[in-house]
Amino acid sequence: MRIYKAADYAAMSKLASDVVAAAVIKDPCCALGLATGSTPLGLYASLVARYEAGELDFSRTVFVNLDEYIGVAADDPNSYCSFMQRHFFSAVNARSVNINIPNGMADDTAAECRRYDELLEAHPVDVQVLGIGHDGHIGFNEPGDAFVPGTHAVELDARTISANARFFGAEENVPRRALTMGIGSIMRARTILLLAYGADKAEILARAIRGPVTPHVPASVLQLHADVRVIGDATALAELI
Ligand code: GLP
Repeated sequence: MRIYKAADYAAMSKLASDVVAAAVIKDPCCALGLATGSTPLGLYASLVARYEAGELDFSRTVFVNLDEYIGVAADDPNSYCSFMQRHFFSAVNARSVNINIPNGMADDTAAECRRYDELLEAHPVDVQVLGIGHDGHIGFNEPGDAFVPGTHAVELDARTISANARFFGAEENVPRRALTMGIGSIMRARTILLLAYGADKAEILARAIRGPVTPHVPASVLQLHADVRVIGDATALAELI
């Protein structure tokens, strides 16, 4: 693991954007694994600015998102699909045919998980962007007794529901279930960028990076990956370096 300590959120976002931009410039047909949450917003803003400056072309890039709430329609403002459109896809020349997000409205969840796994096999991810939940989740892989390899449905942890209540007005409005890419798919990405911002992430980040590898801290599995870049601001990295 390489750990990059950025002075602040803007510097963290710029560092992450450098890695993603390099991948797109090197191979415009690359596959980017993207994440939602507040943490990567600065990364997306930086990529949009580079697109607007003519530095990046996303017309052939494939996008594969990590997760989506179950029961929230794609056009609902709280869906991860809407989030990605709002903050990134609609602001660059991403082609809709290249945008992939699990369908949380699928009637047959098992079939949707299979479809997503097949898609991931067809488009191996070059750079996977990750945030980290307060319980150590990546995507929506919540703490549990085993690492689940493929795309699957999850029950959201109470801490995740409470952290995401800010988007839904109140905890009772937060969906209880989600579809997420599995740990095996995340680990198959060639390069992983784990972004962390803020003092409230310091403790879980230290447990994920320095603690035992355990499915009770899902992000700890990243210790076993050959090319993980942890990019955090000074407060998130306070317990590490
Ligand atoms: C959600 C997403 C995760 C994200 C996490 C942290 O649960 N499913 O992919 O990493 O939130 O979000 P934030 O960056 O807002 O702290």
